[in-house]
Amino acid sequence: MHIIAFANQKGGVGKTTTAVTLSHGLARSGKKVLLVDLDPQGHVAFSLGMDKSPGLYRLICLNEKIESIIQPARENFDILAGDKFTEKVKRHITLSDFRETILLDLLEKTDYDFVMLDMAPSLDVLHLNGLVASDWVIIPTRLDALAVDGVNEILSTMGEITKRGYPFQGYSILPTFFDRTTRETLTQLKEIVQTFGGKVFPPIPQDTRVRESVAYGKTLWEYSLMSPAIQGYSDGNKHTGGYAQLLQRVLETFHG
Ligand SMILES: Nc1ncnc2c1ncn2[C@@H]1O[C@H](COP(=O)(O)OP(=O)(O)OP(=O)(O)O)[C@@H](O)[C@H]1O
Ligand SMILES: [Mg+2]
Repeated sequence: MHIIAFANQKGGVGKTTTAVTLSHGLARSGKKVLLVDLDPQGHVAFSLGMDKSPGLYRLICLNEKIESIIQPARENFDILAGDKFTEKVKRHITLSDFRETILLDLLEKTDYDFVMLDMAPSLDVLHLNGLVASDWVIIPTRLDALAVDGVNEILSTMGEITKRGYPFQGYSILPTFFDRTTRETLTQLKEIVQTFGGKVFPPIPQDTRVRESVAYGKTLWEYSLMSPAIQGYSDGNKHTGGYAQLLQRVLETFHG
């Protein structure tokens, strides 16, 4: 089992979109996937056309069995939903013993190929639990002047967690909202690649169909398979980014 967190303390960078799209992509490739919503905004269920619900609260505060809370979202693809009750989980964890590994201990008992953690744009005890539980972190980032700073912030948090004895196998940086027509985006992409080298995945194009798909409660694979966000841009022989390419990279990284 691989546990992957989607994290960036900055808001609105594409964490939930990437978590939902990649989770469904892996499920469509035959992998068994669980997506856990660690954000009180509860956007995971909403993005999949389902209702928000206190899944994480029932699991951690009410001690209910994980099998009875998990909901099927698509074939091979289950979710553990969240909602505003997730706030109460934070208080509960703060008062518990073994507070750093509560989530890890619960997830380790499940039987999935991939467990994906959609993190909130915050830094609290639940965020910490998510990072402690994960063995890989995907860091989506917008291509603006604050991008490098945002990535450095999460890398420094990961450094602290490693020091506490919970190391990571690795991480990847995923540029999002890529707009090849603006110079700022291209300049920022270059800067990110110069700073973080091979850790940077090909960028995900900005694409209005991403917002539309959420409004229809469909994943991008269902709503617009041929959209730039999935297929990237092709100019002659050169191909750039998109969630299909990300899916391939992830399948290659975690094969076997
Ligand atoms: N590639 C894209 N092109 C256009 N819109 C996008 C793209 N990716 C995400 N969006 C939209 O941008 C908004 C923010 O994306 P998302 O919710 O995935 O970010 P987030 O990092 O999870 O935000 P939060 O920090 O609030 O949890 C959403 O409305 C989403 O539909
Ligand atoms: Mg989100």
